[in-house]
Amino acid sequence: MATQNLSISSIKAGLTTRFIGQNINYYPSLNSTMEVARKEARRGAANGTVIIAGEQTAGRGRLKRAWFTPGGNIALSIILYPEAAGLPYLIMIASLAAAYAIESVTGLDAQIKWPNDILIKEKKVAGILIENEVKGDRVAYAIIGIGINVALRPDTISEIATIATSLETELGKQVSKEEIIINLLTGFERLYLKLPDTEVIFKAWRDRLVTLGKQVRAHWRENIIEGLAESVDESGALMIRLADGSLTQVVAGDVTLREK
Ligand code: BTN
Repeated sequence: MATQNLSISSIKAGLTTRFIGQNINYYPSLNSTMEVARKEARRGAANGTVIIAGEQTAGRGRLKRAWFTPGGNIALSIILYPEAAGLPYLIMIASLAAAYAIESVTGLDAQIKWPNDILIKEKKVAGILIENEVKGDRVAYAIIGIGINVALRPDTISEIATIATSLETELGKQVSKEEIIINLLTGFERLYLKLPDTEVIFKAWRDRLVTLGKQVRAHWRENIIEGLAESVDESGALMIRLADGSLTQVVAGDVTLREK
């Protein structure tokens, strides 16, 4: 499938948000939208400014991994200035907004693997990276990076060939990046505006996690923790029941779902 250029004017025309995406900076090619967004945030960019890349040459993922964004996919970063209490919920908001956008535009089932991988049929289709600058108890800025594989052909990238998928691979036809972005930014703002009320956000995220109720292996702080992923707490941490009956909290890291 041929990749289409992104039409920023149709994104702007379709957006009815109050502030997210009211200011969009588009770059046909850049290293990482996280880098540009950080510089813009330090210069005082408007709340809700979105940096979008046609392709990224040095996209980055969680845990110092690379993130591949050749042309035809979605890579964007949203600049926000939230209250500190809202920070743990950004992961939940971004994961939910990405899953909802994928489902409503394509009809595909999107699941969330703790903490914020978006999967279709157990393969990763989207990822979220959040970078904050906190000074004392004040948030200087938060940058929410979202990457969605739209036209990506995972079989052409050996590092992710067996673990990743894309919307067009799953659907077998072209998907509008503009529609996904409009849906994503609209859904993100709708959830973000619920803050400081966090209950709806937390429960919707928890209920969509494929991780809960599964045997998992978590890598965190040089440790490997194996057990039953029993629940998540309001801070977003995963609670794992170990074989000895004790409960361990995993705040960040990576989780592999295991067959029983
Ligand atoms: C992950 O799952 O490891 C997170 C991937 C985050 C990728 C996005 S693409 C837009 C933004 N720019 C980057 O360099 N990374 C994030």
